[in-house]
Amino acid sequence: MSNFFEEQVLDVHHWTDRLFSFSTTRDPGCRFKSGQFVMLGLPGEGRPLMRAYSIASPHYADVLDFFSIKVPNGPLTSKLQQIRPGDRIVIGRKATGTLVIDNLKPGATLYLLATGTGLAPFMSTIRDPETFERFEKVVLVHGVRTVAELAYREKIERELPQDEFLGEMIAQQLIYYPTVTREEFRNQGRITHLITSGKLFSDIGLPALDPVRDRVMMCGSPALLADMTPILEGMGFVEGNTGEPGDYVIEKAFAEK
Ligand code: A2P
Repeated sequence: MSNFFEEQVLDVHHWTDRLFSFSTTRDPGCRFKSGQFVMLGLPGEGRPLMRAYSIASPHYADVLDFFSIKVPNGPLTSKLQQIRPGDRIVIGRKATGTLVIDNLKPGATLYLLATGTGLAPFMSTIRDPETFERFEKVVLVHGVRTVAELAYREKIERELPQDEFLGEMIAQQLIYYPTVTREEFRNQGRITHLITSGKLFSDIGLPALDPVRDRVMMCGSPALLADMTPILEGMGFVEGNTGEPGDYVIEKAFAEK
């Protein structure tokens, strides 16, 4: 048996000249938990060049969604950004990753902190009913440079609250907090500053972060993770891992070097 599934591209959406997303068919044998990633590449001669991609679609969907940056001269994304419906891509059989709710201790509020394409795994997490069974409130914070980079905003703000199965949970339990750093927008500033200044909490009407009650998942640029980790540790949050649930878990958004 091959280590890869070969899938067909169904749809491609270019958000900006830096960001795009695409969906593919899904082999019935492709199993994953919300928040996990797979290796993904383009078929060709020899061993395909693969990169890690978080799955942005829910675990029960019959398609797979991916959200990617376009790295100038990137060995994979310079080609991948040219895919069109009907093209083939290869996907590793084994999904893995730390951003799964089983890696967190029980809590009341789940904070999902993302920058850029780090939103991808959380697009799966916020469409998993189990997320809303485990947590009373789910706060999704997405930090980007420009308003156009607030990918999936329409879906989160308009479509999901109307969804036949998820709508009620999303409408009552999900708080979406998009924030922009390099343009005017209703929320502005880096996630780190919004948390340390307390602005995030006064804006959403929840108490400041507390490891007794809150759990955190983070996915984004290495700079975000490097700055947020000591902030959380300073508040007493303990990192969780597979087999050892904690108060927070992290994964860097996968970008090719
Ligand atoms: P900024 O515009 O101030 O750099 P990128 O597209 O470079 O990955 O950035 C995505 C978002 O993450 C931007 O809004 C950027 O803000 C923000 N960001 C970059 N570094 C950090 C950091 N160390 N802590 C929090 N947010 C960050």
